[in-house]
Amino acid sequence: MPALVLLGAQWGDEGKGKATDLLGGSVDYVVRYQGGNNAGHTVVVGDQKYALHLLPSGILSPGCTPVIGNGVVVDPSVLFSELNGLNDRGVDTSKLLISGNAHVITPYNVTVDKVTERFLGKRKIGTTGRGIGPTYADKINRVGIRIQDLYDESILTQKVEAALDGKNQLLTKVFNRRAIEVGQVVEELLGYADRLKPYVADTVLVLNQALEQDKVVLFEGGQGTLLDIDHGTYPFVTSSNPTAGGACTGAGVGPTKISRVIGILKAYTTRVGSGPFPTELFDEDGEALRRIGGERGVTTGRDRRCGWFDAVIARYATRVNGLTDFFLTKLDVLTGWEQIPVCVAYEIDGRRVEELPYSQTDFHHAKPVYEYLPGWSEDITKAKSFSDLPKNAQDYVKALEEMSGAPISAIGVGPGRDETIEVNSFL
Ligand code: IMP
Repeated sequence: MPALVLLGAQWGDEGKGKATDLLGGSVDYVVRYQGGNNAGHTVVVGDQKYALHLLPSGILSPGCTPVIGNGVVVDPSVLFSELNGLNDRGVDTSKLLISGNAHVITPYNVTVDKVTERFLGKRKIGTTGRGIGPTYADKINRVGIRIQDLYDESILTQKVEAALDGKNQLLTKVFNRRAIEVGQVVEELLGYADRLKPYVADTVLVLNQALEQDKVVLFEGGQGTLLDIDHGTYPFVTSSNPTAGGACTGAGVGPTKISRVIGILKAYTTRVGSGPFPTELFDEDGEALRRIGGERGVTTGRDRRCGWFDAVIARYATRVNGLTDFFLTKLDVLTGWEQIPVCVAYEIDGRRVEELPYSQTDFHHAKPVYEYLPGWSEDITKAKSFSDLPKNAQDYVKALEEMSGAPISAIGVGPGRDETIEVNSFL
């Protein structure tokens, strides 16, 4: 009964799409359990490149049922444009299932995200501006709109009224914006109901029944461990739980059902938006990682901040997620450096610290302590097995594995579907 969780071990953008897609052929269900269209996966199939934001990447594998779980926040207009884009390219999307309990990102949630960031000024989080945080805030405040509400106009109207009562006061009196009309929002949301209907399902029941029937279910995390609202670099985080526990609450599956937790780990580190990042580079090495790694956001088009591999973070990800394996991505990007620095610990106010400090102040003061590993210059993109890699690349992988606390079971050596070395099978 394999139930696998696949999640980002750093700050997101580790190349999850490639990993999920690699497994997609043998997986019956691919489930998103948190986040929304703030995520961005690039999946390359043959000579085709797909950028997905909200849909699980399993949508590209014909035998696989893609599921949007209850923990996800859904912007219907984005969902439809993503579906249309795939349909235009001949991808069948009819098997998609969406939880009726998933929350809807309303137009006012997007407005609140943008005005809040503007008012935070220099202290802004650097959100994707997609309304993610305000939608989760409404959920926790119990004034959220769920997909199932679109099928009861009276309830929907009452809920939109409740949500807008306070927000309109804020928008008009604090943010100097026009009030949002209840009727207009209700009309827009009702306009999505018919097209959504065939996809809406009791996904908790479907997934648990699938597991009872020994189907393979893959839970795909958006963002990454360090962007987790509880375990990340708060407040510079997203508003959900990408960590492994989020798969249970965000899909309605008990922890005893999860058999494997795979952390996707980039061979160096990137981050988008504000917040601390000890190994960040501001020199030509950082620029080279960005250029060679194509480190530009799939969702926002923003340049990603780039830095060397940070083993302290990888160890932390192993701990908070109970990782059983790593999938190391983008090893090929490091080809050509004579030596590669790897952060093995931090120096904080004169002390050497081996583990991620829980104090935000300490983390802001953390300076990387580097070990220098010998690099390689051979092209590794054609490597099919671990032994095809040059010795120094093998040693780099083994060193990362030792420092990070879980076996590296797959290695990405290029963006294509077949440019992956499988060391141990995930299934
Ligand atoms: P939000 O998720 O739009 O609220 O943004 C909160 C923070 O998470 C910002 O720093 C974003 O740049 C970051 N973030 C959100 N989604 C992703 C992602 O998929 N990859 C990397 N960073 C992300």
